[in-house]
Amino acid sequence: MKTGLYLHIPFCKQKCNYCDFASFAGCEKWMPAYVEALLTEAHSYRSRRFETLYIGGGTPSLLPLNLLEKLIVGLEKQFGPVSQFQESTFEANPESLSLEKLRLLKMAGFNRLSIGLQSFDDEELKKLGRVHCVADFLHVYQAARKLGFQNINIDLIAGLPRQTLTKFQANIKAVLSLHPEHISVYGLQIEEGTPFFEQGVVCDQPLMRNMLEETRHQLIQAGYHHYEISNFARPGYEAKHNTHYWNYGEYVGLGSSAASYIGGVRRQNTPDLRTYMECMKRGKTPEIFREQLTGPALEGEKLLLALRQLDGVKPTQKQLAYFQQEIEKHIHNGLLERAGNKIKLTEEGIYLANEVFCSFVAPFENI
Ligand SMILES: C[S@@+](CC[C@H](N)C(=O)[O-])C[C@H]1O[C@@H](n2cnc3c(N)ncnc32)[C@H](O)[C@@H]1O
Ligand code: SF4
Repeated sequence: MKTGLYLHIPFCKQKCNYCDFASFAGCEKWMPAYVEALLTEAHSYRSRRFETLYIGGGTPSLLPLNLLEKLIVGLEKQFGPVSQFQESTFEANPESLSLEKLRLLKMAGFNRLSIGLQSFDDEELKKLGRVHCVADFLHVYQAARKLGFQNINIDLIAGLPRQTLTKFQANIKAVLSLHPEHISVYGLQIEEGTPFFEQGVVCDQPLMRNMLEETRHQLIQAGYHHYEISNFARPGYEAKHNTHYWNYGEYVGLGSSAASYIGGVRRQNTPDLRTYMECMKRGKTPEIFREQLTGPALEGEKLLLALRQLDGVKPTQKQLAYFQQEIEKHIHNGLLERAGNKIKLTEEGIYLANEVFCSFVAPFENI
């Protein structure tokens, strides 16, 4: 059975105004101890083999060159060469991915880069609280291409404060001109506790929907496969690691706040940096949560994740036993449709997916 390996790097140069991910600014001094802790946790999985590797964050590219090298060497000691993973992704922010780090990643055998751009407009980037400008991004993107990275993802956000449809279309057009293999486009979410939330920023939902529809239209026309609600790929470049999550495959997450799903059990590490490092030092578990889903909770979650993939899913007998009525309701309302023996989100359902997904999460209406 395939297994994915995720490593969480919880450091950022500065917190962005919209972000509630488990990451911290101004904690660079903890980086050496954190890498040490990650490698200790990695050691406990040394007998496992993984098919995909994803180093995400936070901002993995913020690790200084020596620590990045230490992390890679340490991982290779436990799990074999990075080049032997079917897919190995490194998440990076433009301001911190130096040429030396890019060279190191390439030499180590990373075969996929995911770069957080968010917007192709310097004014918008400033409003988001990003620490890079468009020129920084272009510099990194071109350097990566020159070094031979042939699979690059670019992250964009739609529906930024005061962003017009025309401005957003210009962002998409500019990204397309670079011909990345993969593009992720997320609708802005206002998360509690973020500066945007405190400032009372609200999303114009109809405008955001227009932007996401426009994205789908433009990217499909340019030859991309819209294979997951927020993800587009040139055929053959669909992200293997993430697809594995949506297919309910097993994965191990290392680091603070990282989640794992192994043997039917889902676990989550503490998001607290110091507690995580302390646990690793003392040989204690950093786990703060563990659950084993069964029955409709398990089947509902599997169905929900599978339906994120726009090609659809063939529901299992168990899923039909629990959710037939809900599935029929969404087909009747035009949010799901049949495609052979599969069901999938309709064009309308893509933008109202949460209405569909609610039916597959407890409390269940008809069970
Ligand atoms: C794990 S995050 C961060 C990756 C990386 N540190 C960066 O900033 O590019 C991955 C992506 O989620 C998206 N994201 C994070 N918070 C979001 C929010 N509140 N609304 C919409 N998209 C968000 C951004 O596009 C971001 O690049
Ligand atoms: S969006 Fe990325 S860089 Fe910004 S705070 Fe979140 S994880 Fe850090």
